[in-house]
Amino acid sequence: MRKPIIAGNWKMNKTAKEAKEFAEAVKTKIPSNETVDSVIGSPALFLETLVNAAEGTELKIAAQNSYWENEGAFTGETSPAALADLGVDYVIIGHSERREYFHETDEDINKKAKAIFANGMIPILCCGESLETYEAGKTAEWIEGQITAGLDGLTDGQVSNLVIAYEPIWAIGTGKSADANIADEICGVVRKTVEKLYGKEVSDSVRIQYGGSVKPENIAEYMAKENVDGALVGGASLQADSFLALLDAVK
Ligand code: PGA
Repeated sequence: MRKPIIAGNWKMNKTAKEAKEFAEAVKTKIPSNETVDSVIGSPALFLETLVNAAEGTELKIAAQNSYWENEGAFTGETSPAALADLGVDYVIIGHSERREYFHETDEDINKKAKAIFANGMIPILCCGESLETYEAGKTAEWIEGQITAGLDGLTDGQVSNLVIAYEPIWAIGTGKSADANIADEICGVVRKTVEKLYGKEVSDSVRIQYGGSVKPENIAEYMAKENVDGALVGGASLQADSFLALLDAVK
Protein backbone atom coordinates (compact mmCIF):
# COMPACT_ATOMS: atom_id res chain seq x y z
CA MET A 1 0.00 0.00 0.00
CA ARG A 2 1.38 3.38 -0.99
CA LYS A 3 0.88 6.16 1.52
CA PRO A 4 -0.69 9.31 0.03
CA ILE A 5 1.50 12.41 -0.12
CA ILE A 6 0.07 15.90 -0.44
CA ALA A 7 2.59 18.65 -1.07
CA GLY A 8 1.93 22.36 -1.25
CA ASN A 9 4.13 24.31 -3.63
CA TRP A 10 4.10 27.94 -2.56
CA LYS A 11 6.26 28.99 -5.52
CA MET A 12 7.54 32.59 -5.06
CA ASN A 13 4.85 33.69 -2.63
CA LYS A 14 4.65 34.86 1.00
CA THR A 15 6.90 36.80 3.36
CA ALA A 16 8.66 35.30 6.38
CA LYS A 17 5.90 36.61 8.63
CA GLU A 18 3.18 35.05 6.47
CA ALA A 19 5.07 31.73 6.32
CA LYS A 20 5.32 31.65 10.09
CA GLU A 21 1.64 32.50 10.55
CA PHE A 22 0.70 29.70 8.16
CA ALA A 23 2.82 27.15 10.04
CA GLU A 24 1.38 28.22 13.37
CA ALA A 25 -2.16 27.93 11.99
CA VAL A 26 -1.76 24.41 10.58
CA LYS A 27 0.82 22.63 12.68
CA THR A 28 -1.46 21.12 15.29
CA LYS A 29 -4.08 20.15 12.69
CA ILE A 30 -1.92 18.03 10.39
CA PRO A 31 -3.27 14.45 10.11
CA SER A 32 -1.15 11.55 11.33
CA ASN A 33 1.66 10.63 8.97
CA GLU A 34 0.55 7.05 9.29
CA THR A 35 -2.27 8.02 6.92
CA VAL A 36 -0.83 10.80 4.77
CA ASP A 37 2.44 12.65 4.32
CA SER A 38 1.76 16.40 4.50
CA VAL A 39 4.39 18.64 2.96
CA ILE A 40 4.88 22.36 2.37
CA GLY A 41 7.28 23.44 -0.39
CA SER A 42 8.54 26.86 0.58
CA PRO A 43 10.90 29.44 -0.88
CA ALA A 44 14.41 28.85 0.52
CA LEU A 45 14.18 32.01 2.61
CA PHE A 46 11.54 30.59 4.96
CA LEU A 47 12.75 27.00 5.23
CA GLU A 48 14.43 27.50 8.58
CA THR A 49 11.36 29.23 10.02
CA LEU A 50 9.13 26.41 8.79
CA VAL A 51 11.41 23.59 9.92
CA ASN A 52 11.52 25.15 13.39
CA ALA A 53 7.76 25.72 13.52
CA ALA A 54 7.08 22.15 12.31
CA GLU A 55 9.42 20.49 14.79
CA GLY A 56 7.63 17.77 16.74
CA THR A 57 4.61 17.90 14.40
CA GLU A 58 3.63 15.79 11.39
CA LEU A 59 4.28 18.61 8.90
CA LYS A 60 7.20 17.99 6.53
CA ILE A 61 9.09 20.69 4.71
CA ALA A 62 10.27 20.77 1.11
CA ALA A 63 12.63 23.12 -0.71
CA GLN A 64 11.61 24.10 -4.25
CA ASN A 65 15.05 23.60 -5.74
CA SER A 66 18.66 22.84 -4.90
CA TYR A 67 21.97 22.71 -6.71
CA TRP A 68 23.79 19.38 -7.22
CA GLU A 69 27.11 20.34 -5.64
CA ASN A 70 27.33 20.57 -1.86
CA GLU A 71 29.61 23.62 -1.83
CA GLY A 72 31.77 25.82 -3.99
CA ALA A 73 31.81 28.83 -6.27
CA PHE A 74 28.17 28.73 -7.43
CA THR A 75 26.86 32.20 -6.68
CA GLY A 76 23.20 32.30 -5.79
CA GLU A 77 22.69 28.54 -5.64
CA THR A 78 21.47 26.50 -2.66
CA SER A 79 23.49 23.58 -1.32
CA PRO A 80 21.64 20.28 -0.82
CA ALA A 81 23.93 19.53 2.14
CA ALA A 82 22.88 22.83 3.76
CA LEU A 83 19.21 22.01 3.14
CA ALA A 84 19.61 18.60 4.78
CA ASP A 85 21.47 20.17 7.70
CA LEU A 86 18.56 22.55 8.20
CA GLY A 87 16.15 19.60 8.52
CA VAL A 88 14.47 19.82 5.12
CA ASP A 89 12.79 16.52 4.16
CA TYR A 90 11.98 16.83 0.44
CA VAL A 91 13.19 18.87 -2.54
CA ILE A 92 10.97 19.61 -5.53
CA ILE A 93 13.02 19.33 -8.73
CA GLY A 94 12.31 19.75 -12.40
CA HIS A 95 9.16 21.82 -11.99
CA SER A 96 8.03 23.00 -15.42
CA GLU A 97 8.55 26.62 -14.36
CA ARG A 98 12.20 25.83 -13.65
CA ARG A 99 12.58 23.91 -16.89
CA GLU A 100 10.97 26.70 -18.91
CA TYR A 101 12.16 29.95 -17.26
CA PHE A 102 15.51 28.78 -15.89
CA HIS A 103 16.40 26.36 -18.69
CA GLU A 104 16.89 23.30 -16.50
CA THR A 105 17.55 20.16 -18.50
CA ASP A 106 16.79 16.50 -17.74
CA GLU A 107 20.51 16.07 -17.12
CA ASP A 108 20.56 18.87 -14.49
CA ILE A 109 17.50 17.38 -12.82
CA ASN A 110 19.11 13.93 -12.73
CA LYS A 111 22.21 15.36 -11.04
CA LYS A 112 20.01 17.14 -8.51
CA ALA A 113 18.10 13.91 -7.75
CA LYS A 114 21.37 12.11 -7.01
CA ALA A 115 22.66 14.93 -4.79
CA ILE A 116 19.39 15.11 -2.85
CA PHE A 117 19.40 11.36 -2.17
CA ALA A 118 23.10 11.51 -1.25
CA ASN A 119 22.15 14.04 1.43
CA GLY A 120 19.38 11.87 2.86
CA MET A 121 16.44 13.86 1.49
CA ILE A 122 13.74 12.76 -0.99
CA PRO A 123 13.28 14.40 -4.38
CA ILE A 124 9.83 15.22 -5.71
CA LEU A 125 10.65 14.96 -9.39
CA CYS A 126 8.24 16.78 -11.70
CA CYS A 127 7.40 15.87 -15.27
CA GLY A 128 4.75 17.15 -17.64
CA GLU A 129 3.94 18.06 -21.22
CA SER A 130 3.05 21.30 -22.97
CA LEU A 131 -0.34 21.90 -24.55
CA GLU A 132 1.25 21.43 -27.97
CA THR A 133 2.60 17.98 -27.03
CA TYR A 134 -0.72 17.04 -25.45
CA GLU A 135 -2.71 18.07 -28.53
CA ALA A 136 -0.31 16.20 -30.80
CA GLY A 137 -1.05 13.01 -28.81
CA LYS A 138 2.60 12.69 -27.80
CA THR A 139 2.22 12.92 -24.02
CA ALA A 140 3.14 9.30 -23.21
CA GLU A 141 6.31 9.40 -25.26
CA TRP A 142 7.32 12.76 -23.79
CA ILE A 143 6.76 11.63 -20.20
CA GLU A 144 8.63 8.38 -20.78
CA GLY A 145 11.60 10.41 -22.05
CA GLN A 146 11.61 12.79 -19.06
CA ILE A 147 11.36 9.95 -16.55
CA THR A 148 14.01 7.80 -18.20
CA ALA A 149 16.47 10.71 -18.29
CA GLY A 150 15.58 11.97 -14.81
CA LEU A 151 16.12 8.58 -13.16
CA ASP A 152 19.32 7.65 -14.98
CA GLY A 153 21.77 5.92 -12.62
CA LEU A 154 19.52 5.97 -9.54
CA THR A 155 19.39 2.75 -7.52
CA ASP A 156 16.33 0.55 -6.93
CA GLY A 157 16.20 1.67 -3.31
CA GLN A 158 16.29 5.35 -4.28
CA VAL A 159 13.56 5.04 -6.88
CA SER A 160 11.36 3.08 -4.43
CA ASN A 161 11.48 6.10 -2.11
CA LEU A 162 11.11 8.72 -4.81
CA VAL A 163 8.06 10.89 -5.38
CA ILE A 164 7.20 11.77 -8.99
CA ALA A 165 4.75 14.56 -9.80
CA TYR A 166 2.94 14.49 -13.13
CA GLU A 167 1.90 18.05 -13.94
CA PRO A 168 0.57 18.85 -17.40
CA ILE A 169 1.89 22.36 -18.06
CA TRP A 170 -1.44 23.39 -19.56
CA ALA A 171 -3.17 22.66 -16.25
CA ILE A 172 -0.82 24.60 -13.93
CA GLY A 173 -2.27 27.76 -12.48
CA THR A 174 -4.80 27.91 -15.31
CA GLY A 175 -7.81 26.56 -13.45
CA LYS A 176 -7.98 23.91 -16.22
CA SER A 177 -7.25 20.71 -14.34
CA ALA A 178 -6.71 17.55 -16.35
CA ASP A 179 -9.65 15.21 -16.04
CA ALA A 180 -9.04 12.57 -13.34
CA ASN A 181 -9.02 9.81 -15.99
CA ILE A 182 -6.28 11.57 -17.94
CA ALA A 183 -4.31 12.09 -14.72
CA ASP A 184 -4.68 8.39 -13.92
CA GLU A 185 -3.68 7.35 -17.42
CA ILE A 186 -0.52 9.46 -17.47
CA CYS A 187 0.44 8.61 -13.90
CA GLY A 188 0.07 5.02 -15.18
CA VAL A 189 2.53 5.82 -17.98
CA VAL A 190 4.98 7.08 -15.33
CA ARG A 191 4.54 3.86 -13.35
CA LYS A 192 4.98 1.66 -16.44
CA THR A 193 8.15 3.55 -17.32
CA VAL A 194 9.52 2.95 -13.83
CA GLU A 195 8.54 -0.72 -14.14
CA LYS A 196 10.36 -1.03 -17.45
CA LEU A 197 13.51 0.46 -15.91
CA TYR A 198 13.41 -0.97 -12.37
CA GLY A 199 10.88 -3.81 -12.24
CA LYS A 200 7.48 -4.25 -10.65
CA GLU A 201 8.47 -4.11 -7.00
CA VAL A 202 10.00 -0.66 -7.42
CA SER A 203 7.18 0.64 -9.62
CA ASP A 204 4.63 -0.56 -7.06
CA SER A 205 6.27 1.48 -4.34
CA VAL A 206 7.15 4.75 -6.12
CA ARG A 207 4.59 7.43 -5.25
CA ILE A 208 3.12 9.45 -8.08
CA GLN A 209 1.31 12.74 -7.59
CA TYR A 210 -0.93 14.61 -9.97
CA GLY A 211 -0.55 18.40 -10.06
CA GLY A 212 -2.31 21.20 -11.89
CA SER A 213 -5.24 23.19 -10.46
CA VAL A 214 -5.91 20.68 -7.67
CA LYS A 215 -8.17 22.14 -4.98
CA PRO A 216 -10.19 20.89 -2.01
CA GLU A 217 -13.24 20.49 -4.28
CA ASN A 218 -11.58 18.17 -6.80
CA ILE A 219 -8.78 16.36 -4.91
CA ALA A 220 -10.94 13.34 -4.01
CA GLU A 221 -11.57 12.57 -7.70
CA TYR A 222 -7.84 12.28 -8.30
CA MET A 223 -7.09 10.38 -5.13
CA ALA A 224 -9.71 7.77 -6.07
CA LYS A 225 -7.61 6.76 -9.08
CA GLU A 226 -5.36 3.73 -8.94
CA ASN A 227 -2.18 5.38 -10.13
CA VAL A 228 -2.55 8.69 -8.29
CA ASP A 229 -0.93 8.62 -4.85
CA GLY A 230 -1.12 12.29 -4.02
CA ALA A 231 -1.10 15.84 -5.28
CA LEU A 232 1.33 18.70 -5.80
CA VAL A 233 -0.70 21.83 -5.22
CA GLY A 234 0.17 25.44 -5.98
CA GLY A 235 -2.57 28.06 -5.57
CA ALA A 236 -4.78 26.03 -3.22
CA SER A 237 -1.90 25.43 -0.78
CA LEU A 238 -1.34 29.11 0.01
CA GLN A 239 -4.12 29.53 2.56
CA ALA A 240 -4.04 27.50 5.77
CA ASP A 241 -7.73 26.56 5.55
CA SER A 242 -7.44 25.37 2.01
CA PHE A 243 -4.27 23.36 2.70
CA LEU A 244 -5.95 21.66 5.66
CA ALA A 245 -9.04 20.96 3.53
CA LEU A 246 -6.82 19.18 0.98
CA LEU A 247 -5.40 16.97 3.73
CA ASP A 248 -8.84 16.35 5.19
CA ALA A 249 -10.07 15.07 1.86
CA VAL A 250 -7.34 12.41 1.89
CA LYS A 251 -6.98 11.23 5.46
P1 PGA B 1 -1.47 24.96 -9.32
O1 PGA B 1 0.11 24.68 -9.40
O2 PGA B 1 -2.03 24.03 -8.29
O3 PGA B 1 -1.57 26.42 -8.90
O4 PGA B 1 -2.04 24.72 -10.68
C1 PGA B 1 0.60 23.37 -9.32
C2 PGA B 1 2.12 23.36 -9.44
O5 PGA B 1 2.65 24.10 -10.27
O6 PGA B 1 2.80 22.62 -8.72
